[in-house]
Amino acid sequence: QVGTQEASPGTPAINWDAYPESTALPELLKLKNGTTVKTPEDWMKRRRPELQELIQREMFGYLPAAQPFTATVTKMVPDAQAGKATLKEISLKFTQLPPEAPEIRLALWIPNRHPAGKIPVFLTLNYCGNANVTTDPHTTIHTDRYCSKKEWIGQRGAQADFWCVEQVIDRGYAFATYHESDTKADKNEWTDGLFPYLKSDQVPAGSQPATIALWAWGLLRCVDQLAQEPQLDPRRICLLGHSRRGKTVLFAAAMDERIALVVPHQSGTGGMALSRENNQETVERINRVFPHWFCGEFKKFGGNEPRIPFDQHAVASLVAPRLLLDTEGDQDAWANFPRSLETLKAIDPVWKLLGKTGLVGSGLITSVAEIQPGKVGELLQLRLPEKHTLTSEFWTGILNYADLMLPKSTTP
Ligand code: GCU
Repeated sequence: QVGTQEASPGTPAINWDAYPESTALPELLKLKNGTTVKTPEDWMKRRRPELQELIQREMFGYLPAAQPFTATVTKMVPDAQAGKATLKEISLKFTQLPPEAPEIRLALWIPNRHPAGKIPVFLTLNYCGNANVTTDPHTTIHTDRYCSKKEWIGQRGAQADFWCVEQVIDRGYAFATYHESDTKADKNEWTDGLFPYLKSDQVPAGSQPATIALWAWGLLRCVDQLAQEPQLDPRRICLLGHSRRGKTVLFAAAMDERIALVVPHQSGTGGMALSRENNQETVERINRVFPHWFCGEFKKFGGNEPRIPFDQHAVASLVAPRLLLDTEGDQDAWANFPRSLETLKAIDPVWKLLGKTGLVGSGLITSVAEIQPGKVGELLQLRLPEKHTLTSEFWTGILNYADLMLPKSTTP
């Protein structure tokens, strides 16, 4: 099994001929058979599926197929967030999995005041339970799921300053979140969460879905539900995750075109930062310290980065032609914002091929005030003077960008 100490540390007999060494980034606009990708159709119908296959097989493990679920509203509070939002807590119970398989508990705040038309939504993955994200006294506290930070379990509002839910609501966006441990605890054990039910006999051990793929799968099931919510705009579903969860949202958006805007916040190695010439967190280190994030096959690339048959630009390129806002803190060297900006440069030709603007200028801005019409494209790095955290100022930038760049509202 992937993730057990026996199976995850790489493949004993690697045929390195299949992984020729290259310190240059592997070409995006060339099919496996050597043909140049010349049209949007070549990209969307041929190259994109090839890359999706590659990153799943060699890095994240295969994303399990969608599962049908019943959505039960377990709580509805019309005057949550001091009257500003309606709280809906929805349990997603998978009808074709055994009854003991865990449900996903989605918390959704829909603004009570908003511009006419359908409402855009930010979906996030939280670390330690839905009640952590806001001080709103209505959110149900759950204490039955794993969180490595024990003092946060059941602590209302522990991350309220980070998630800024009220600010998001005030701007006319809905906010949705689920606790990552609903799908997989953040540890190298494989008996909890949904892994036992979603692993597949059809998939080789080294390419079973690892933790990030399982978290992403959960987000995509939440998207299934959000897309059905009558008040929400299915064309304006945005995903945001921080750090390991930034890697997760990038992979989710790479795999699913329903995501209109993805914000991989300080996502670093395995996220927006290139693995080649990464002078911060190496692939060897991330695989050793967090052996459960990526699939068994990825272990063989520790210390062998030039052999990876793709790089993180391939993951990010799969978001094209949609919106990718890379938010970084200039005191957060570990997340390697320079190598993340290199990723944006490397994927820009894909957006251009698809008839989009892609990068404007260098693609880097260092203040929220620079988010202005014509000054930013679908690809952008917003780098603020911050450490490894999310703040209200970041949210201001993210929401300004969303206002400017998302499609206009659909009328109900
Ligand atoms: C560690 C890890 C990073 C990760 C970060 C986080 O620092 O090395 O890859 O992004 O944790 O999730 O906060």
